Amino acid sequence: MATVAVYSLKGGVGKTTFAVNLAWAAARNSSRRTLLWDLDPQAASTWMLSADHSGRDEAQAIFSREVDVEQLIRPSTVEGIDLIAADTSLRGLDRLFFQIGKKKRLARLIEKLSRNYDRIILDCPPGLTETSEQVLRAADVVVVPVIPSPLSQRALGEVARYLVQNGGSHAPILPVYSMVDRRRSLHRAAMEENPDWPIVPMASAVEMMTSKRLPIGEFAVSSPAARQFAYLWQAIEKRLAKQ
Ligand SMILES: Nc1ncnc2c1ncn2[C@@H]1O[C@H](COP(=O)(O)OP(=O)(O)O)[C@@H](O)[C@H]1O
Ligand SMILES: [Mg+2]
Repeated sequence: MATVAVYSLKGGVGKTTFAVNLAWAAARNSSRRTLLWDLDPQAASTWMLSADHSGRDEAQAIFSREVDVEQLIRPSTVEGIDLIAADTSLRGLDRLFFQIGKKKRLARLIEKLSRNYDRIILDCPPGLTETSEQVLRAADVVVVPVIPSPLSQRALGEVARYLVQNGGSHAPILPVYSMVDRRRSLHRAAMEENPDWPIVPMASAVEMMTSKRLPIGEFAVSSPAARQFAYLWQAIEKRLAKQ
């Protein structure tokens, strides 16, 4: 079993879009038993893939051990992907992690799931918080969507510096250019700095995911953006195989 976190210091960079499509690629292209765990109280991937909108506000209770993690797993609307939904109770998650003082609570919960899943994808809230520290300790690889702009590159630098300062071991970081528009000179210039990073283009097919509430592979599998997600997933599988 391996855990892939989709994380960034910044909001609105494509984390949820990546998480949903990488979960799809894990399930469909690699036939992995796949779980998508939504850790963001904004609950965007939950909104996209949940079959059940009863909103019980239990998501945080997993971490205080009031509910068993397995009890909150549901099938998603997409075959082959199970979901742990987010809800607004996760707004208190940083405080809870701080109070319990167990730095590996998320990692331990994930270990419990390793019998039933091959790939766990974490859709993370933005920021450098207690939650992100838990995520960085639990993940086997951390995928970071980066919009090609100086500000986004800087945010990535901040995370890298933070990890170095904190020492200890952490998962490898895999930066990926997100929402790339090659007509923009700023994008082209930023991308020239890291020509080897994978790329996800800005595309209306990606935008349509929010109206169809489906991964792009379900309705536009041969679009350029869907192909880039498939390549990205292959690169992640290769990286995991090396570890
Ligand atoms: N490659 C893309 N092309 C077009 N729109 C995108 C792309 N990636 C993300 N978006 C849109 O940008 C918005 C923010 O993306 P999202 O994945 O929710 O970011 P985050 O989870 O980091 O906040 C969403 O409306 C999403 O549909
Ligand atoms: Mg999101």
